[in-house]
Amino acid sequence: MTLITESISQAAEFLINGQIIAFPTETVYGLGACIHDENAIQNIFIAKGRPSDNPLIMHIADLADLNYLVEQPLHSNITSLIEAFWPGPLTLILPLNKNLKLSPIINAGLNSIAVRMPAHQAALNLIKAVKSPLVAPSANLSGKPSPTNYLHVLQDFNNIIACILKGEITEYGLESTIINCLNPDNFQLLRAGALDIEKIQKIIQLEIKNNSFNQESQPLSPGMKYKHYSPKAEITIINSNTQIINPQESAYIGLTERLENFKKVYLANNSLDYAQNLFAFFRACDEENIKTIYAQRPESEGIGFAILERLIKASGG
Ligand code: TXA
Ligand code: MG
Repeated sequence: MTLITESISQAAEFLINGQIIAFPTETVYGLGACIHDENAIQNIFIAKGRPSDNPLIMHIADLADLNYLVEQPLHSNITSLIEAFWPGPLTLILPLNKNLKLSPIINAGLNSIAVRMPAHQAALNLIKAVKSPLVAPSANLSGKPSPTNYLHVLQDFNNIIACILKGEITEYGLESTIINCLNPDNFQLLRAGALDIEKIQKIIQLEIKNNSFNQESQPLSPGMKYKHYSPKAEITIINSNTQIINPQESAYIGLTERLENFKKVYLANNSLDYAQNLFAFFRACDEENIKTIYAQRPESEGIGFAILERLIKASGG
């Protein structure tokens, strides 16, 4: 039986005892284990069906943890990013502290590590209660859309994980933005996400390759080569010559184009609302066995850029 609780100390107890649990963050729910518990970390990969060459993000609650996790000193551009955006939906790829005895299954044996400090009080309190950073991928089965509420976690992991720390629907609904900081003269966007790239570009120069949109090229972030964010239904991003076939059997999610005569419709109020509801809509369509989802192409700015990236991936590139 998977326990659903709102008690931080109860959830922390499971982690301390070597179990894996799901917890809310401001982006999506994560499936967490203590960074020193190799057995629990292994169980994350098993529970998700996650390939072992896809490394995990460390979640910290205290900047002091960076001192022992990553090579010091950090370049001033990196500390500027941290000051501007942590806690928040930004993951940094940093050089791993060579003296740290960390299980290589966390980072697929790379010499780098992904770190973020979530802007979510329950997540921060949980990490503090455990007194250890947590590794946490999104709390979905590999290949399924990330969970934006605790019921999605339950769909994928009921009776498989010990506990779900229950929170609200997640604030952004999309995963964190990932930046490769290994060369501070050339910051690279590895995954578009909840933090707008326009905000990041006010602080540093950011290289935005098409790689995250292009499955063919060598992926910089191992996870990007896997088919992600995909419902069972086929996704079509609508443009002016899209032929809508059989709308009564299909679904539509959109923003300014208020199309209505579909079997299932979600009309967002703004782009954040679009982001927040996208993965939940995908899951709901699958439950209703809908075969085709039409989606309005969002403006490629702000969180719209990340929505578009997810839609392109879900539509098969
Ligand atoms: O918002 C988020 O980031 C959520 C919440 C739970 O924090 N987590 C999340 O984790 O999305 P996950 O495992 O679903 O995605 C992590 C991504 C993967 O694409 C992985 O390949 C990449 O981060 N990654 C992790 N470590 C890396 C490293 N050292 N170098 C390059 N990419 C890395
Ligand atoms: Mg994921």
